[in-house]
Amino acid sequence: MPSLLIANAQVATSAEVFPGAVLVEGERIAGIYRAGESLPAADSVLDAAGQYLLPGGVDVHTHFDLDVGFTRASDDFYTGTVAAACGGTTTIVDHMAFGPKGCPLGHQPEVYHRLARRAVIDYGFHGVIQHVDDEVLADMQTLRDKEGLQSFKFYLTYDDMLDDAGALRVLRRAKELGLVICVHCENDAAVTSLRQACVAEGHGQARWHPLSRPVEAEAEAVYRMMMLAKIAGSPRLYIVHLSTALGLDAIRLVRSTTGQQNILVETCPQYLLLNDSRYESDSEGLKYIMSPPLRKPADEEALWGGLACGDIQTIATDHCPFFFATQKQRGAKDFTLCPNGAPGVELRMPLMFSEGFMKGRLSLPEVVRACCTRPAQIFGLAPRKGDIAPSADADLVLFNAAHQWTVTKALLHENVDYSPYEGFSLTGRPTLTLARGKPVAENGAFTGSEGYGRYLHHHT
Ligand code: URP
Ligand code: ZN
Repeated sequence: MPSLLIANAQVATSAEVFPGAVLVEGERIAGIYRAGESLPAADSVLDAAGQYLLPGGVDVHTHFDLDVGFTRASDDFYTGTVAAACGGTTTIVDHMAFGPKGCPLGHQPEVYHRLARRAVIDYGFHGVIQHVDDEVLADMQTLRDKEGLQSFKFYLTYDDMLDDAGALRVLRRAKELGLVICVHCENDAAVTSLRQACVAEGHGQARWHPLSRPVEAEAEAVYRMMMLAKIAGSPRLYIVHLSTALGLDAIRLVRSTTGQQNILVETCPQYLLLNDSRYESDSEGLKYIMSPPLRKPADEEALWGGLACGDIQTIATDHCPFFFATQKQRGAKDFTLCPNGAPGVELRMPLMFSEGFMKGRLSLPEVVRACCTRPAQIFGLAPRKGDIAPSADADLVLFNAAHQWTVTKALLHENVDYSPYEGFSLTGRPTLTLARGKPVAENGAFTGSEGYGRYLHHHT
């Protein structure tokens, strides 16, 4: 079993940052040493002076190869995980597409095992629920026990949404089974009627997209789900991609008044770093058609505050890219026809290192907790994933904090023709990513191998 000693690093765990060294033996972390402690012999030694050593990123919200009916998200499990590795992410948990109308709950996991075979880093899946009946509720247990699925998602908008009765049944079942329920929270009646009005009135430009999905639509649905979860006995409820200050206020109110501990909240880099001014250009605005939409600068500030005080637990990407030159142009005259989503999996860790830690908005352990540790804990992947700890998988990323660089699509590996963060000036860049001890990316180049990623049969 070859060993590697990463010496002289600033080791950043979920708890602290300290000067020290980490010993990797085979696929695992075999030892952690503070400066001054005697170091073990190793087959090779990497001098990481001036660099920060973080756990590999855990991105629990990607949509690789997502089939949206008329097209597919442009990153598949190979290109998407290559991009993830180059950006310092070593684990992804993918949100699968709905599948054929009425299909059994096990249909999509089977499809996704095939799609994910080429992944270069470890991966898991969230199940998806598009309708509710006794069979679906029974299959939640089967998939937990046989596939190790730890979580299921449903949507409160789109064609395959659940109504409140269905949501309540799923939440009750999740409570019985100890599962996490992820919910896309937007009020469908509001969104549908506003989108219909835009079409009827000829308001097809991208700038109408955020107006058709107002902050109240998110906050109402977030509040409703927290209430239904309470009625269902408080299963673990995970709000995906929170984008609004109003939604965060609702979460704080409910936590403080009901004492609910099982409300878990995710936000994404796009809601922290981009705002609705991106829709001012009719043509460029298509790049940012995603749901929920980009919000106001005040929402960005509120979300940073929520992360800093621990009211928001995780940062994931909702990575769902479509080519601007072709796929996104479907919405050129009518934004409601544009495929929803944007890329982000490669830049999440660099953005949070630079715009979170280096700019003083978050401490480095806070970045680690939001991007690595808590996602792994919530979705049953800890203690193997998500932190630098003895016996954990040697999923590690080294950041050179002195490296200043400007984001441009040409430097990225995502299979898409733009980055929402083009032109961002960042401080710090990954120099080495190890996935279970194997170098999968070095200085912006992929060095791993197709199919190296393993399916993570989550712990229950
Ligand atoms: O716009 C987005 N986020 N597309 C991906 C599907 C979803 O709504 O999560
Ligand atoms: Zn999503």
